[in-house]
Amino acid sequence: MEPVRLEVATPSRAYPVTIANGAIDGLGRALDDARAPGRRFVVSSPLVWRLHGNELARALNGSGTPAEPILIPDGERYKQLATVTRIYDALVTAKADRSSTLITFGGGVIGDMAGFAAATYLRGIALVHVPTTLLAQVDSAIGGKVGVNHPLGKNMIGSFYQPHAVVVDPAVLGTLPRREFRAGLYEVIKYGMTSSAALFDRIGKERKAIFARAPEALTAIISESCRIKADVVSADEREAGPRRILNFGHTAGHAIEAVTKYRRYRHGEAVGYGMLVAAELAVARGALADDARQALADLVTSLGPLPPIADIAVTQIVEAMQHDKKIVSGRLHFVLPTAIGATTIVDDVTEREVKAALKKVGFRP
Ligand SMILES: NC(=O)c1ccc[n+]([C@@H]2O[C@H](COP(=O)([O-])OP(=O)(O)OC[C@H]3O[C@@H](n4cnc5c(N)ncnc54)[C@H](O)[C@@H]3O)[C@@H](O)[C@H]2O)c1
Ligand SMILES: [Zn+2]
Repeated sequence: MEPVRLEVATPSRAYPVTIANGAIDGLGRALDDARAPGRRFVVSSPLVWRLHGNELARALNGSGTPAEPILIPDGERYKQLATVTRIYDALVTAKADRSSTLITFGGGVIGDMAGFAAATYLRGIALVHVPTTLLAQVDSAIGGKVGVNHPLGKNMIGSFYQPHAVVVDPAVLGTLPRREFRAGLYEVIKYGMTSSAALFDRIGKERKAIFARAPEALTAIISESCRIKADVVSADEREAGPRRILNFGHTAGHAIEAVTKYRRYRHGEAVGYGMLVAAELAVARGALADDARQALADLVTSLGPLPPIADIAVTQIVEAMQHDKKIVSGRLHFVLPTAIGATTIVDDVTEREVKAALKKVGFRP
């Protein structure tokens, strides 16, 4: 299989995304091609490093990288400034300077936290993402959003900081727990539903091969997802316009996560429900055919059971939506599907409509 190479072209930086089974082996070369400065620091988590550190260390061997990575915990509850401080401490101790590159090697939590450290240490050093979860590979590693949580809200502290390169190796997903893998797949469905009917169909047709983590099947859906994200980010770096379509499923999704205190659902699982809510809304407005909604529901269901929602009240979700970051001038923006592979953004959804859609999906009336 030929490696897939995409380009993200934002006003602040243009950079390559390479997707290939075994791409980590070529990391040294990718760093040089991206002109990533020569002193290289790796930030990873103890688990990821234990599972895949050897491959990464081998790939960087002799390229000026300290043998020891900077290891930090990667649970969502560690995604806070105190953990970022540990990265600063390690960088200061090692006298990292402007000729340094920070390589993130982990899931979205590591990428967001270490990316924020790279954005702020010495007002910014070079950053390269090597994402190791499906979610990070198709979503968080591309687009430059970095940051941490505040005790009162998720991702409240952060910045846009584009990396020098993103290197995606689907082979590392072989060790990803099934639930984490599925959580990433809901985001892949999101790309299909918003932007590519071909991707949407492929997930259904190749479901078995995808779950078996067959390299060809994985590389195909990851590449297509990355292509969509790269195009959207290139058109709209700061999410002022077109990038907002990638929030499909996230208005209700974020509310579901917040109401359950980020404990019951993986982010992708909440997005799975959120997409169903948006689809119900679209059908009720006559914007989406009911068989398209059903196809989405079938695909979401085919990945396996989601954690239950029947005990969560419709009113709790509506209340949580009022606190969404995506409220612009008091209006809640909703991304609604109009067909498989197409969306529209509306800002005139009423509370009554949202409640009706939530009920249809199964929240407690
Ligand atoms: N920056 C963005 O644009 C963006 C987009 C979406 C999500 N995010 C953020 O991403 C975070 C979620 O990321 P995530 O879902 O990757 O979670 P995560 O980083 O917490 O990783 C999930 C779990 O998988 C483990 N893991 C990672 N790689 C593994 C591997 N190859 N094999 C086995 N285990 C592995 C981790 O140790 C962790 O326990 C959230 O904080 C979210 O806010 C950011
Ligand atoms: Zn998401």
